[in-house]
Amino acid sequence: MNEATVPQLSVLITGGTGFVGRQVARRLAQRGHRLRALVREPGRAASLSELSAELVQGDVTREAGLEQAVAGCDVIVHLVGIIREVGPDQTFENVHTRGTQRMLEAAQQAGVRKFVLMSALGAKAQGTPYQRTKYEAEEVVRRSDVPYVILRPSVIVGPDGEFMRLLLRLVRRLPLTPVIGDGRYRLQPVDVVDVAEAFAQAAEREDVLNQSFDIGGPHKLTYNRILEIICEEFGLRRRLIHISPALVRAFVDLASNWRLPTPVNSDELTMMFEESIVPGDGNVLREVFGLDPTSFRSVLQRTSGARRGLETSRPR
Ligand SMILES: NC(=O)c1ccc[n+]([C@@H]2O[C@H](COP(=O)([O-])OP(=O)(O)OC[C@H]3O[C@@H](n4cnc5c(N)ncnc54)[C@H](OP(=O)(O)O)[C@@H]3O)[C@@H](O)[C@H]2O)c1
Repeated sequence: MNEATVPQLSVLITGGTGFVGRQVARRLAQRGHRLRALVREPGRAASLSELSAELVQGDVTREAGLEQAVAGCDVIVHLVGIIREVGPDQTFENVHTRGTQRMLEAAQQAGVRKFVLMSALGAKAQGTPYQRTKYEAEEVVRRSDVPYVILRPSVIVGPDGEFMRLLLRLVRRLPLTPVIGDGRYRLQPVDVVDVAEAFAQAAEREDVLNQSFDIGGPHKLTYNRILEIICEEFGLRRRLIHISPALVRAFVDLASNWRLPTPVNSDELTMMFEESIVPGDGNVLREVFGLDPTSFRSVLQRTSGARRGLETSRPR
């Protein structure tokens, strides 16, 4: 749909303060939509205030504030998600499954016209707690009466994303780059800007209703290849050191028995070895959303450009 011909919508975004949410909110605002955001701490939502978004305080693990947040909205873009559980309330079940259920109930009562759900590639009934509860959230959405669109991306990359930040730190700071396992597992990194565009279109378009889309970038890359591309872009020579997964798992299990923090937990290890790629040769970003999906290398160049800009503009 041409931007000029899109009718203005009232959109409630959840998770708008996050890595993906900031880009989605920006794209929705650029396209002229009225934004409201459900946020846990309005004082930490400066990026949303800058877009003139109306802030409503709320938490998907509780009902308070949700009714007020959804009132009068045409579309809900529900991005809230966690990768680790924190404390008794912030559990996968309570945030993903029940949190989505709470949002949907509020949506249904308010007569919201569309619910756009952020899921994840690999969400499935028999998976890790993250994957299972993401799948349950999809099922909650599919079973409700509210028209929906579900997007299931592979790993999302961008300058301030955790994946990119972690890999850049590993490659740039260490003389040898540790890789858990053989590093031949494949991912399909997708640009956060492309994901944001897909969400904006999903909010606007009627022809994508009641469908789920697996989203990936233009290339299926092994983890080793991703590290090589980073080295090529930064002109670094690094040897990859492959570490036995059994050894890492034993260490992680031991540390978790002692309640010690580790960079990855056991479920994250399981997900790491599963390929995160879209089956088949097609690409939904191209075929459904009309984009020319951005390569991982281009995202990296944008990232290093942004970093260089920051470094040169910093007072010395
Ligand atoms: N990043 C990826 O590679 C990737 C890939 C596939 C799918 N996804 C999915 O994309 C979504 C966004 O991921 P992200 O990388 O942007 O994560 P993120 O940066 O950690 O952002 C998470 C967002 O959820 C909000 N949130 C967390 N718990 C909440 C609660 N109980 N109530 C209300 N808001 C809550 C956070 O708000 P606060 O500011 O208050 O913490 C933040 O805005 C998630 O659903 C994730 O599963 C991400």
